[in-house]
Amino acid sequence: MNRARAKWIVVSVIVILALMQLIQPNRTNPPVNASRSLEAHVQVPPDVQQVLMRTCYDCHSSATVWPWYSRVAPVSWYVANDVKTARGHINFQDWEAQVNAQEGKVHLGLICKLVRSGNMPPADYRFMHKGTDLSPSEVNAVCAWSQQFGSGEDSDKKAD
Ligand code: HEC
Repeated sequence: MNRARAKWIVVSVIVILALMQLIQPNRTNPPVNASRSLEAHVQVPPDVQQVLMRTCYDCHSSATVWPWYSRVAPVSWYVANDVKTARGHINFQDWEAQVNAQEGKVHLGLICKLVRSGNMPPADYRFMHKGTDLSPSEVNAVCAWSQQFGSGEDSDKKAD
């Protein structure tokens, strides 16, 4: 490859990256109505609440802290989509957005499974955010709470 061609490729890549910045995803933090929150519907012990705020709220709340790279395409598209999808499943600050109380219970029951298996918070998020791993005792506290208030095929059967 000659120099002129290499230069042309570099310039094209820069132009494409610059154009990508014009497509800015929505990075909204919707207003919070405390009466619609998880705590307004389910009793949440303070230690569990702290874990949820530290490790889940960036995606499952209306109080996302948007990191600098969430402003740079194409990463911005990925992050914004992740938050949108996560809020679509559950938003701890808008618990009433769920279809009905039964769905809420199933989600509560799922939390234990997802946290214990390390699927939530997602590994890429934990890699990028120091301090978002759960300690074993935090997992136990979240699980005890999740199984007390949640329902689900397994959590019902396991409850003995
Ligand atoms: C980086 C963003 C992010 C963080 C942080 C995060 N989640 Fe999620 N969560 C998601 C996404 C995205 C989905 C939707 C997954 C899908 O559709 O495959 C999801 C889905 C869920 C679901 C619904 C699963 C289902 O099948 O309906 C639960 C429950 C959940 N997360 C709990 C948690 C808990 C508890 C924490 C904190 C311990 C947490 N999440 C942290 C992004 C996140």
